[in-house]
Amino acid sequence: MIGQIKTLDDFDFESKTVIVRLDLNTPTDPSTGEFIEDRRMRSHLPTLEELSDKKAKVVCMAHQGRAGEPQFTELENHANHISDLLGKNVEFVESVFGNTAKTAIKNLSDGEILLLNNVRIYSEEALNRPADVQAKSLLVKNLAPLCDIFVNDAFGTAHRSHASVVGFAHVLPSCAGRLMESEIRALSEIVEDPKKPLLLILGGAKVQESIRIIQKMISGPVEKILTGGILANVFLAAKGYRLGDPSIEYIRGRKLISCIDEARKILDGHSDKIVTPLDVALDQNGERVEIPVSELPQSYSILDVGQKTLKEYEGEVGEAGTVFFNGALGYYESPEFSKGTEYIIKSIADSGCFSVIGGGDTVAAARNLKVEDKLTHVSTGGKASIDFIAGARMPAIEALKDSCKIHR
Ligand code: 3PG
Repeated sequence: MIGQIKTLDDFDFESKTVIVRLDLNTPTDPSTGEFIEDRRMRSHLPTLEELSDKKAKVVCMAHQGRAGEPQFTELENHANHISDLLGKNVEFVESVFGNTAKTAIKNLSDGEILLLNNVRIYSEEALNRPADVQAKSLLVKNLAPLCDIFVNDAFGTAHRSHASVVGFAHVLPSCAGRLMESEIRALSEIVEDPKKPLLLILGGAKVQESIRIIQKMISGPVEKILTGGILANVFLAAKGYRLGDPSIEYIRGRKLISCIDEARKILDGHSDKIVTPLDVALDQNGERVEIPVSELPQSYSILDVGQKTLKEYEGEVGEAGTVFFNGALGYYESPEFSKGTEYIIKSIADSGCFSVIGGGDTVAAARNLKVEDKLTHVSTGGKASIDFIAGARMPAIEALKDSCKIHR
């Protein structure tokens, strides 16, 4: 897929004004405004360093949170933090496309970098519309005439058809930044040419999305799909297990009943490929208690997979050529129920296979265990990486492909 879009290798950036979409959306402590972690900011450094070294005038756009939510903030702290990481000043501009922003862009010298304020301050940004319509948005109409090239490095936002994500690609020659490029390369390898056997480990709460991945991949090269989290509960229910009130109520509460029907259909054709837990960990008044699934239903919530399951899953990981892991196997916020996720992350890191992980909790586990460097690729996209693997249309990537046709 990377062959269908341009990269930083395809342009001469010297003295060009380059508008770059970053994904700086970072968990922050709403009471202090401090960043809880800074992985996304670090992931963009190669692109920013390269553009600055190649003497581009670099104009960055990004979002933080969603309007009305506590994580919705301006980007001054982000600019300061990236300045510290780069060891180079990143000027923060309070405006998005007003006169202050336009003047700051015109005043940039070669190699300098500025960061505009949160693009979502401006409400037209978050409308999902086709690229040709977004090309007429106020953001693009105001900023594109001041810029020569658009670089999209925001893989985490690649599933959105927002103005800053797709609109510029329609009117400017465009390419992927280094982060976007590395995400597309790693995820394409899983979809297009995985080293076999290919193992998917899917957990977390994004059940509909995981089911879409399974539907897309199950008839292809995938050897096995190991389930955890709420997805495992859905497949256990589809196999006829009664889970007990707290767990099944949770499924009902999340309107996942239709997913059980989908899971049944998948099992009808491919039961050999879907692996469900042998045992589960229950939350018995705050205490972790493991039981075999034959002892279900129980009146305690299922919050993790048990030891026997972990040993089985570890064995599968040991045999795998490629592993894609997205979504925690248990309730990651609780140390008692994060054990399954951490155990499997360690197994993947030790296995030496081609490994890609994505999703907030899975990535947090790799960070906490300090094994990120032992994994082939840690995706910055949660929903974006799931959509990519599920074969969903990715507006940001489509816009970059179309841009190559429009700006030959
Ligand atoms: C993310 O954190 O998943 C991306 O930054 C996209 O954010 P959004 O879901 O608010 O569009």
